[in-house]
Amino acid sequence: MTLETISVDIPGAAYGVTVGMGARSRIADAVDHADGVAQLVDRRVAGLHGTPCSGVPTLELQGGEGIKTLESLGRVLDFCAEAGLSRRSTLVAFGGGTIGDLGGLAASLFKRGLDVVQVPTTLLAQVDASVGGKTAINLAAGKNLAGTFHHPRAVFCDADLLATLDDEDFASGLGEVAKTAILGGDDALSRTEELAKAVVARDADALAEVVAMCVGVKARVVASDPEERGARRALNLGHTFGHAIEHAAGYGRVPHGVAVAVGLALAARATEGAFDADPELTTRTLELLRCFGLPTSLDELRSRDGLREALTPEALHVGLGHDKKGTVGSPEFVLARRPGDIALGVRLDDELLMSLLR
Ligand code: GLY
Repeated sequence: MTLETISVDIPGAAYGVTVGMGARSRIADAVDHADGVAQLVDRRVAGLHGTPCSGVPTLELQGGEGIKTLESLGRVLDFCAEAGLSRRSTLVAFGGGTIGDLGGLAASLFKRGLDVVQVPTTLLAQVDASVGGKTAINLAAGKNLAGTFHHPRAVFCDADLLATLDDEDFASGLGEVAKTAILGGDDALSRTEELAKAVVARDADALAEVVAMCVGVKARVVASDPEERGARRALNLGHTFGHAIEHAAGYGRVPHGVAVAVGLALAARATEGAFDADPELTTRTLELLRCFGLPTSLDELRSRDGLREALTPEALHVGLGHDKKGTVGSPEFVLARRPGDIALGVRLDDELLMSLLR
């Protein structure tokens, strides 16, 4: 696949997402106007692939949730100061979602905001986190509680970088791919189903096509609602259950996209219960998740080491109350009635909810 640039038409802040093999070779085009460039890079990825810019100040960090702290944010802001960046400079973030979140937040704060260019290196960050301008760090009270909307100047999703992802990270990204395919409508879902086996085999063309499809779907959604006041909440399909699973298991024990996969399966069953919907989408959802090698039920997830004790219906119910997108104690769900036909803010009756959590 040749390089493709997808436009994210945020009013007043439009930007392009370049997707395909070797996409990161185009970074120079996005930074050549800047009066200074510095880069924040994931140490492991830089060791395997080098850094995206040469001869610029570089801060290497070990990616992972552990860096989404106030302390790391201070370190990145100090680095921006030491690198002599101005408001017309650019910070390049090269790594998975945690590097992108931290780099984006630092860029939105330093001197009240400078450009960030995102170069996501995980499947999850390429199909979701790097597009849409959300930035965040975690607080003791919960994940992503301190953040901003700061749209990147450009994003480069290089399919070449996905070859070295470990299996767990790759599987986690596939959970978000399945979600985005369902949101995208029947054509997006059918094409993802056709490509699923090649994607799992990490065929570079199939991956680039699926990443481009996901970015296109996400671009449409965020352009219609950049600050998540309404339509953007569709991107939380499977996430209310997914966040409850992550909360009940203890953050870090179930990879985000794996929790989302089970969340998608539960959301599909919830749709049948709440809307008396045709089970076809449930069947297709479960089939796609299976093809991606992802769990499709709480029981499958519980059978993994030590999770049976943690993922009790009661603990999951408490976890639902902690989803930051709903009202405490009264979780709201995003459900897909059909591919691309999304219901927002659905409340489920307690009997249905508890039957799903058993
Ligand atoms: N990851 C969901 C969003 O960007 O809104």
